[in-house]
Amino acid sequence: MPAITLVGAQWGDEGKGKATDLVGNRVDYVVRYQGGNNAGHTVVIGDQKYALHLLPSGILSPDVVPVIANGVVIDPAVLFEELRGLRERGVSTERLLVSANAHMIMPYHRALDKVTERFLGKGRIGTTGRGIGPTYADKISRTGIRVQDMFDAKILRQKLELALHDKNQVLTKVFNRRGLDVEQVFDEYTGYAEELRPFVADTSLELNRALDAGKTVYLEGSQGTLLDIDHGTYPFVTSSSPTAGGACAGAGLGPTRITKVVGIVKAYTTRVGSGPFPTELHDEWGDWLRQKGGEYGVTTGRNRRCGWFDAPIARYSTRVNGITDFFLTKLDVLSGLERIPVCVGYQANGTRYDEIPMTQTEFHHAVPVYEYLDGWNEDISHARSFEELPKTAQAYVRTLEEMAGAPISAIGVGPGRDQTLELRSLV
Ligand code: IMP
Repeated sequence: MPAITLVGAQWGDEGKGKATDLVGNRVDYVVRYQGGNNAGHTVVIGDQKYALHLLPSGILSPDVVPVIANGVVIDPAVLFEELRGLRERGVSTERLLVSANAHMIMPYHRALDKVTERFLGKGRIGTTGRGIGPTYADKISRTGIRVQDMFDAKILRQKLELALHDKNQVLTKVFNRRGLDVEQVFDEYTGYAEELRPFVADTSLELNRALDAGKTVYLEGSQGTLLDIDHGTYPFVTSSSPTAGGACAGAGLGPTRITKVVGIVKAYTTRVGSGPFPTELHDEWGDWLRQKGGEYGVTTGRNRRCGWFDAPIARYSTRVNGITDFFLTKLDVLSGLERIPVCVGYQANGTRYDEIPMTQTEFHHAVPVYEYLDGWNEDISHARSFEELPKTAQAYVRTLEEMAGAPISAIGVGPGRDQTLELRSLV
């Protein structure tokens, strides 16, 4: 009954789609437990590239049941568009299960996400503009609309009237935007309800039963640890809990059921949106990493901010997630460097920090302290075992592992399905 949780150990975009795909054929369920279509997973199979935003990457493996669990927020138009796109490419989608308790992203959530960001000006979070934050805000305020509400016309209308009574005041009077019409939104969403119905299930029950029956469940986190609402660089975070604890609440599994926590960590660091990022490079090395690593957002197309590996961040992730194994991605991108800087601590306001400083103010002022590791020139994208890597690349991996505080069990040396070195089984 293994339940494996996969978490991003940095600010997201660590290459989780590739990791999930690696184990995708060896598990029975792949579950998304938080976030929505703010995520962007790229999976490359043969010469086909799939960019998924909302669907679990398990949808691409014919023997896997993909699950959108209760902790996810769903934009139905996006969901159906993604399903349609996959069907057109011959991918079967009818195995998908969607929790009746997941919350719906409504048109007013998208509108509010955009206007509040504009209103924040220089203080903006840099959200994806998909309505994620406002949807979670309504969930916590107990004014959200869940998947199951769409199947009861009376409830849906009641909830919509209540929500729009409030939101329309804000949209029109605070932000000077047009309000939304209850009937129009009602018609749109009752239309989605019929399309959604065949997928809807009690996913928590299904997953617990699957574990009881000895099946393997893979819980696929989106975003990353430093974007977690509790453990990230608040307020420059997403509005859910990508960390491993969030997987239990977001999927309806007890913590004692989780058997392994795999942290996905990039051989360097990237971040999208605003907020502190000590090792960020504003010079040509930042451009070099961006170009070599193809660091452009899957969801928004925005340039990702790039910097060197930050060991205190990896260690922090090990701590708050209970990481048992790391999957180190994009090691090939670092080929061609004579020396590779690795951040081992920070200086802020005259104090040396070996761990992430406790307060955001200090973290904002953190200047990285670097150690320099030997680089390598060889193209490592054809390596298929750890031993085939140049000695200095092996040493880079071993040093990161020691600093991060958990074993590196897999290494990505390219985007393809076969470009992964698995040192220990992740399942
Ligand atoms: P939101 O999730 O759209 O509310 O955006 C909040 C913050 O999380 C912003 O800085 C986004 O750029 C960031 N973010 C959201 N999803 C992802 C992701 O999948 N990868 C990287 N950053 C993300």
